[in-house]
Amino acid sequence: MTLQLGVLISGRGSNLVAVSDAIDAGRLDAKIRVVVTNNPDAPGIVWAQTRGIPAVVVRPNGFENRAQYEQSIVESLLSNGVDWVLLAGYMKLVGKTLLSRFKNKMVNIHPSLLPLYKGLEAQKQALDAGATESGCTVHLVNLKMDDGPILGQRRVPVVPGDTVATLSDRILVQEHQLLPEVLQSIALGSMKNTF
Ligand code: GRF
Repeated sequence: MTLQLGVLISGRGSNLVAVSDAIDAGRLDAKIRVVVTNNPDAPGIVWAQTRGIPAVVVRPNGFENRAQYEQSIVESLLSNGVDWVLLAGYMKLVGKTLLSRFKNKMVNIHPSLLPLYKGLEAQKQALDAGATESGCTVHLVNLKMDDGPILGQRRVPVVPGDTVATLSDRILVQEHQLLPEVLQSIALGSMKNTF
């Protein structure tokens, strides 16, 4: 089943590009239907525009409350035929309005071995904790931050002299591989949700 993806981003968008590359290379049976961002300056939104992918900026400030903000996102996703939502560096907590429409059809990628180091600066958290390894996780989204059933993980070592930048780069390489793989498992129907 070809996944009809809606991708939510807030920034750089390298995972978005990795997913697009995997589709182009025939490693992922999906189509990116729309990219939505809360950040008008997100580099990833420019990338989407140059690729001719519908790109929508939804500014939280323009709405009275989170429900209205998320309803606008839901409408952008539905009007573009989205059936699965990917959070790829989307720096906001997902609320009920968005989640209820895509329950168990929304995945997030996070740069740690969850349940360790949830939230911001996960790579710094790993270094500060003296971890000897870290990695990345793709999981189904629920209402808690970086929570929900884990669909896939990749591990990387933390090496002497690592900085946030070097560890982040090492993890990012794995993110770009893991994310398309997990999405392809979903597309193939080999990842059944039982919840
Ligand atoms: C990635 O490290 C991802 O795991 C986290 O935010 C970062 C987004 O990077 N959720 P990019 O925008 O995909 O380059």
